[in-house]
Amino acid sequence: MSASPAALDVLMHRRSDRHFADRPLEPGVAEALFEAFRWAPSSNNRQPWRLLVAESPEAVRAYDEALSEGNRAWATVAPLKLVLVGNPSEQPDRDGLQCFMLDCGLALENLLVQGCAMGLTAHAMVGWDAAKVIAGFSIPEPMRPVALIAVGYRGRVEDLAPAVREKDLRPRTRRPIDEIVVRDRFAAK
Ligand SMILES: Cc1cc2nc3c(=O)[nH]c(=O)nc-3n(C[C@H](O)[C@H](O)[C@H](O)COP(=O)(O)O)c2cc1C
Repeated sequence: MSASPAALDVLMHRRSDRHFADRPLEPGVAEALFEAFRWAPSSNNRQPWRLLVAESPEAVRAYDEALSEGNRAWATVAPLKLVLVGNPSEQPDRDGLQCFMLDCGLALENLLVQGCAMGLTAHAMVGWDAAKVIAGFSIPEPMRPVALIAVGYRGRVEDLAPAVREKDLRPRTRRPIDEIVVRDRFAAK
């Protein structure tokens, strides 16, 4: 059986770019991302995720202010600002593994891949202040912000500050398959 070229092509060309265009998204674009997000698999189909959309000027300000300095240098331009929120009470841990995080990660990837397929750049971030995100969006206990996501069309990479531009011009790399795929058992040390 051959690998699906359709899925692989999008997966291999998706990238977390930072050069956003100051261009709004057409009607329906955000909804397609939400649709991809909600169709992610999750343990026991518990779907322990929410997606908060920063729309009002107050919410956008709270979003931008919560970003780390490094992320604020580029992410504020994005027209669609999302907060992925996980609910640990909707997905029990197993052997100390936070399963809600795994489910949220799958939903996040669905959204990133759908964004790429639609010609967008969708960029996940862990660089933000959790206390500011929780307070700014009134996230109730026990929910937890998991990732902020900036989405938009690509603009001109030349418009980025040099330090940020350099990141977007770097080639994407991955560990080779023979380093990450273990056959039968891990070798004894
Ligand atoms: C959960 C998660 C958090 C990330 N947080 C940040 C971040 O705070 N700032 C940033 O510039 N990039 C962030 N990234 C982007 C990664 O740096 C990027 O995915 C990685 O370098 C691989 O590049 P690629 O997505 O273009 O393949 C994050 C990615 C993921 C999946």
